[in-house]
Amino acid sequence: MLPTLASRFGTPLYVYDLAVVRARARALKAAISWTPFQPLYAVKANPCPAVVRAILAEGFGIDAVSPGEVALALRLGVPPALIQYTENNMTDAEQGEALAQGVTVTAGSLDRLERLAAAGATRASVRFNPDIGAGHSDKVCTGGPLSKFGVHHTDVAAVRAIEGRSALRVVGCHMHIGSGFLDAGDYVRAMEVILAIAGRLPHLEFIDFGGGLGIPYQDDQQPIDLAAVGAAATRLMAAFCASYGRRLELRLEPGRFLVAEAGTLLTTVTSRKTYPATATAAARTYIGTDTGFNHLVRPTMYGSYHRIAQLSNPSAPTETVDVVGNICESGDIFARDRLMPRCVPGDLLAIRDAGAYGFAMASTYNLRPLPAEVAIDGDAVVLARRRQTVDELLAAWA
Ligand code: LLP
Repeated sequence: MLPTLASRFGTPLYVYDLAVVRARARALKAAISWTPFQPLYAVKANPCPAVVRAILAEGFGIDAVSPGEVALALRLGVPPALIQYTENNMTDAEQGEALAQGVTVTAGSLDRLERLAAAGATRASVRFNPDIGAGHSDKVCTGGPLSKFGVHHTDVAAVRAIEGRSALRVVGCHMHIGSGFLDAGDYVRAMEVILAIAGRLPHLEFIDFGGGLGIPYQDDQQPIDLAAVGAAATRLMAAFCASYGRRLELRLEPGRFLVAEAGTLLTTVTSRKTYPATATAAARTYIGTDTGFNHLVRPTMYGSYHRIAQLSNPSAPTETVDVVGNICESGDIFARDRLMPRCVPGDLLAIRDAGAYGFAMASTYNLRPLPAEVAIDGDAVVLARRRQTVDELLAAWA
């Protein structure tokens, strides 16, 4: 199927398998036995409407971080009550727009909470920093002292004071400690910190433990123990609600877990070359491709590992190569010292697990247009987004 898509739509091409998205959404729901449970999708991971629709059909709401993400959710028919705007340094104008749209804002600072109250908001959620962070890279660890996110968990009295002098009610207690963790330990400890303070907020309707569930990008990594996460969340909620005196809704807001493994970036090999061994360096073979960190920045930005399959001739003898892109920076590397079947120009490569933070983080650096996106579902194939043209790319300049 992938080679057919490459010849039909050209490369570079993002392909999303909606059956995988659906399976991950169902696995998450099956792991949580607490009711009421409202899963949200952190749409920043992959805002492709075909993908988002598949997740919404599983009963998810949307976690948004910008007016654009809220607009996408509204356009896809999500009721405002199921859109949570987890703000980060939003402007007052953005706040006004969100309130007019009727979405609940999750405030990430005391001054934002204050301004929500001053604007007459009657409901808001608060993101707390439990002083515990996790994630596949420091760059995506969003809890702890080095993270800019959230109200410190020791600042509950200040949150209560804002409630006390306004009509605003804090209806949600939220955390998101980071992205791409595979070990549930820190996650569960952070849940405990959040629930330890939640009891001091008298108007809660829900507890949101955020997203962050990782996926195994490498062959030697194990998937996160979803059953253990689900059991811990359920157990902690049960104990908390028993002492709180009301049964609260549980929310989670994963992004990557739902979409990463559903996505592949298809690229064509454009060149190969080998530098000879020298006194200081071993021989090195570079496999050049027709895409780069403009389309998938994760390896360059975080040092992330993505499996790469050689689809044209998978049984060719293996060799150790560097797979690189077409961007004018030496950091434009998808894989260093990777053992893979020999590649020659024209071969098709599949960069795996590219469904989360792939296209979503793509840019037009070097004035290279954004790639096309295709969604497949069984035998059905939909061009979800056509390839950008150079004319479109240049059009906004005066
Ligand atoms: N909730 C909030 C408030 C978030 O900021 C995020 C992700 C999520 C949920 C979803 O996290 P997830 O379940 O996808 O881990 N570009 C990076 C990841 C950045 C995550 C940003 N926030 C990467 O490619 O690894």
